[in-house]
Amino acid sequence: MEKKWWHDKVAYQIYPKSFCDSNGDGIGDIPGIISKLDYLKDLGVDIVWLSPCYPSPLADQGYDISDYYGIDPRFGTMEDMDRLIAEAKKRDMYILMDLVVNHCSDEHEWFQKACEDPDGKYGHFFYLREKEEGKRPTNWRSYFGGSVWEDLPGTNRQYLHVFHKKQPDLNWENPELREEVYKNINWWLEKGLGGFRIDAIMNIKKAHPFHDYAPDREDGLCSVKAMLAEAEGIGGFLEEMRDRTFRKYDAFSVGEVFSEKPGELPGFIGENGYFSSAFDFSAAVFGKSGKGWYDADLITPEDYKNCCFQAQEEVGCIGFLANIIENHDQPRGVSCYIPQGDCCVASKKMLAALNFMLRGIPFIYQGQELGMENVPFSSIEEVDDISSLEEYRVALAAGLSCGEALKVVARYSRDNARTPMQWSDKPHAGFTDGTPWLRVNPNYKTINAAAEQDDPDSVLNFYGRMIALRKDPEYTETIVYGAFEPFLRERRNLMAYYRKGEKTLLVIGNYQRKEQEVTLPVSCKKVLLNNYPEFSILGNTVRMRGYQVLILEI
Ligand code: GLC
Ligand code: CA
Repeated sequence: MEKKWWHDKVAYQIYPKSFCDSNGDGIGDIPGIISKLDYLKDLGVDIVWLSPCYPSPLADQGYDISDYYGIDPRFGTMEDMDRLIAEAKKRDMYILMDLVVNHCSDEHEWFQKACEDPDGKYGHFFYLREKEEGKRPTNWRSYFGGSVWEDLPGTNRQYLHVFHKKQPDLNWENPELREEVYKNINWWLEKGLGGFRIDAIMNIKKAHPFHDYAPDREDGLCSVKAMLAEAEGIGGFLEEMRDRTFRKYDAFSVGEVFSEKPGELPGFIGENGYFSSAFDFSAAVFGKSGKGWYDADLITPEDYKNCCFQAQEEVGCIGFLANIIENHDQPRGVSCYIPQGDCCVASKKMLAALNFMLRGIPFIYQGQELGMENVPFSSIEEVDDISSLEEYRVALAAGLSCGEALKVVARYSRDNARTPMQWSDKPHAGFTDGTPWLRVNPNYKTINAAAEQDDPDSVLNFYGRMIALRKDPEYTETIVYGAFEPFLRERRNLMAYYRKGEKTLLVIGNYQRKEQEVTLPVSCKKVLLNNYPEFSILGNTVRMRGYQVLILEI
């Protein structure tokens, strides 16, 4: 396999609104990010992905862009952005922006012009249909609830939005639209960006001609996913985008790729794939139900292991998955993947190492390195996220009580990951001198960067050691390129695997509170990482404490 500059990197996702506020308005901003670059560098981060900071009405927290060439004044100026790119470069770091081109904002100029003249150039940038009284063009339900069709203001048309009604879908079938997208990507890459994370990309190819599908809920609608499952030929668009943009700059691209069809993965991330990498969402989607969050199954340690192992086996050595524990759309991983009641420093470190050592590119989401947890919501009033509010409504409609519905939302809400970053035990966790836009998690007095920096046994310092191990010249080749192979796969509540390259490493996690004994296949040469002070071995049998994780060279 041809080596690429990004293979051995460690990436970190920033949610700008909640990362660091430099001017006391309660909203994180780009100067705030610049002030924390050294923190990220010290941790060992190479690539920083910023969730959108373009001008936006923030109907979906910036995933509704009204100008692809600007920076929202709430987050700073274009000069700040240029400075961020330059400051990152000084530190050998790369900045990725978020590419949100399945849809724009209804406040984007293109959409405004489409309203003025639906038959003109910009009308063809969207999916418009003649309005028929009492009937929608199709019965598809949007991801955020309700029909995907909305009246185009001032016209006799309706427009398609698979997300919120303030996020009209862009018509990728139109070459003029595609040209605009490529022009924008190249404009940013010219500025010196390292690349992009590509949002919601599986939605750009629709199944034509549009038609109804069998309803899947009482509302008579069907999930838009039914239509997407029928769509053929997304590869044509993605190849064109790659060749016209990323490839020319040797840029890094990581796709938000969901439910690709069987056998399609090599096309997405193989040697000549559309993207450099794609996120592994298998654990995030596990147990989710078409009915809504209220109907989801909890994930057990065995399920978590199977998700990770299946994804690793499917990708093999054809490419690199982007491995995540959480992101801005998910609850905190430590609150989901560790059995309830067992979330503690040891189990957080275990989960971290089990995920981090998988083959692929590790992406850390802000606060994950501190062991940040879900929020104890006490009322639906505290919830901001549009998808959570919709899921609350769906749960009530299904007959849950307000208390039960709140519990469901509290478990899965995207706001769990969006609370301010916990920098210190100062007011508002040191995130802002003003009033934060979203409440700080009350546990910030103990879980915060300042306290963890001073504690050699903190989750933060454990992340630091894992990253250092990945970068240790003795082990880099094995950790980056070595093959993945399960070890004692059938053993319950044990998640263990080899990484086989120049060296052979064995990663073993005792995924339970109880101790368990594990007999190594050969003798251990060296303990590279251990989340407990002790390592108890007799012959080749290791006695593992509850939630102990070991990275061994064997
Ligand atoms: C992606 C983003 C999510 C957003 C959606 C629509 O899934 O990660 O935050 O709501 O796309 O842009
Ligand atoms: Ca600010």
